[in-house]
Amino acid sequence: MTRAKPKQPLFSAPSVVVALTALFAVGCYQTMAEQPKIKMHTVFSFFEDGRGNRPPVEGTVARGMLQENDHMFTGLKEGGTVAAWKNQNPAKEAMPAEVAKAPYFATFPFPVDEELIKRGQERFNIYCAVCHGRTGAGNGMIVQRGFLPPPSFHVDNSRGLKYLTGAGIPLLEAPEGYYFQVITHGFGAMASYSAQVNPRDRWAIIAYIRSLQEAFGKSPARADAGKEKP
Ligand code: HEC
Repeated sequence: MTRAKPKQPLFSAPSVVVALTALFAVGCYQTMAEQPKIKMHTVFSFFEDGRGNRPPVEGTVARGMLQENDHMFTGLKEGGTVAAWKNQNPAKEAMPAEVAKAPYFATFPFPVDEELIKRGQERFNIYCAVCHGRTGAGNGMIVQRGFLPPPSFHVDNSRGLKYLTGAGIPLLEAPEGYYFQVITHGFGAMASYSAQVNPRDRWAIIAYIRSLQEAFGKSPARADAGKEKP
């Protein structure tokens, strides 16, 4: 007499679990780069106006980050973008210095006092002197180790204003707003310092550069003397 074989289930319980897990794992596959989200400034048909960006709720008030004052936060007079001025000059003829300087404020957005200059001195020595030198002569330690030498604040012309407007303007005479633009956006081989230096401190640094220029820039001999001692 033969014994009936015990009935084997078609699939064992563990294999069913493995198969289902694999199935779900595939179904849920998603990389971090492909998150379902609306990217900035993209079209999104879900909203009536078709924009992904949602406007702030009516009555929203900016706290702390409102940058309404052009003088304080850009150094540029209203509507005066350098690109616009450049476009007005397609032939790239040298602009008269007064026209080249016109888009920038040539004043400070708040009163300059000793405390501000001292703050500027501290910030300048931390962030700028490594390249520009402690006197602003353009021979900081990084330059002595081979980095492109920046122009001297005391005796050289602005390279940026030359590039933008063709005008030869000494940095001594470049408007304060122009300095603000350079610190904020960088120029040429110099990177932007907007992440490290807040707008008020940028003006403090400019006030300190003006005081360095007062001390060294008036006499070329003294400006050269500054070159020897970074
Ligand atoms: C890593 C070095 C470095 C640091 C740090 C640096 N600069 Fe410069 N800066 C340069 C160089 C290089 C140039 C010239 C760029 C060129 O000609 O391409 C320059 C140019 C300038 C100019 C003149 C632009 C013109 O029109 O000729 C100003 C003004 C200036 N820097 C201000 C500052 C201030 C203020 C700081 C500190 C917040 C600072 N820089 C920090 C390297 C530096």
